[in-house]
Amino acid sequence: MNFYREILRPILFLLPAEAAHNLTLQLLRSLQPNSRLLNLLFGQPISLPLEFCGLHFRNPVGLAAGMDKNASAIPAWEALGFGFVEIGTITSQPQAGNPKPRLFRYPHKQALVNRMGFNNDGCELVAKRLQKLYSSKKPNIPIGINIGKLKSVPNAEAPSDYLKCYKKLYDYADFFVVNVSSPNTPGLRSLQSATELERILVALRSWEAPPKKPLWVKLSPDLTPEDALAATETAALCGANAIVATNTTLDHDALLPYEDQEGGLSGSPLREKAVAMLKLLIRNSKLPVVASGGIMSPEDAAERMRLGASLIELYTGLIYSGPSLIREILNYRQKPPSENKTD
Ligand SMILES: Cc1cc2nc3c(=O)[nH]c(=O)nc-3n(C[C@H](O)[C@H](O)[C@H](O)COP(=O)(O)O)c2cc1C
Repeated sequence: MNFYREILRPILFLLPAEAAHNLTLQLLRSLQPNSRLLNLLFGQPISLPLEFCGLHFRNPVGLAAGMDKNASAIPAWEALGFGFVEIGTITSQPQAGNPKPRLFRYPHKQALVNRMGFNNDGCELVAKRLQKLYSSKKPNIPIGINIGKLKSVPNAEAPSDYLKCYKKLYDYADFFVVNVSSPNTPGLRSLQSATELERILVALRSWEAPPKKPLWVKLSPDLTPEDALAATETAALCGANAIVATNTTLDHDALLPYEDQEGGLSGSPLREKAVAMLKLLIRNSKLPVVASGGIMSPEDAAERMRLGASLIELYTGLIYSGPSLIREILNYRQKPPSENKTD
């Protein structure tokens, strides 16, 4: 029996989406001291180890940013079998985010729309939480910290705002992700332009003494190919080590005619754009790519890896399929190609 799909999901889907999200985090927090119970309910983690950016990953399937913005359930994600976790987005001060409701499910389309707006506890509190966690037990998987800009800070001051977060959280990150692609902070996505991105990355990299931590830049699927390649080139020149492709999209065409909501669209309707961006970057840029966006099945994951993604990340797929999706992806990858339909 699949505990998530048959029992938990039907209950969670009776609740408004954000209430279900909060209840899930609460449940994970209360279960995480007992990783055996989590394994009993959701299955055993699978190892498919690899090295990337000088880090050791248990397997290539990670948790995408936004699911655990405040680093409250890291031991649970590890027990559920993720190969790495990206927490955040975290900002330099606590932020409430946009008014509720701000998260919506579209089950017929296997999609979500969110306009959360970087609701998070702020870097100070998250740093304390991570310090406490690491002093009792350091996770055995890489922990990435995704950082963003406060809504109240103008873009001109973005570099110092990102730097505040970077400094405060530096000791607790195995790698950082610079998020310049969320559609829910007005003007944030213009930080993907070569000049703006350079100012941010130079501020971070020039503060840091060697050996520098792996730094990834997360891009929007809505960039033109020219702008995406310019951002990637700038990222590479400024010492970034990978691109996360992609964040959510503002293009809701694939969602019509369902009742629409403003915000970033994720899940199945994002697949095509995220795959197009991955292909573009793999063909034309030097930086490796971490694939995110519309990875809903083992076939989707296999396609991204075949196209050249170094790692993959899940968010919406986890909501619809539950944690067994991680194992299904890894089992699918381990089978000889003849046994996999699309390989
Ligand atoms: C509710 C929600 C909140 C998100 N919050 C963040 C965030 O804070 N920072 C970020 O970089 N991405 C955020 N994302 C984007 C995801 O990390 C991911 O890149 C995107 O949803 C595409 O992947 P998916 O189709 O597997 O969901 C969020 C996504 C959702 C659905």
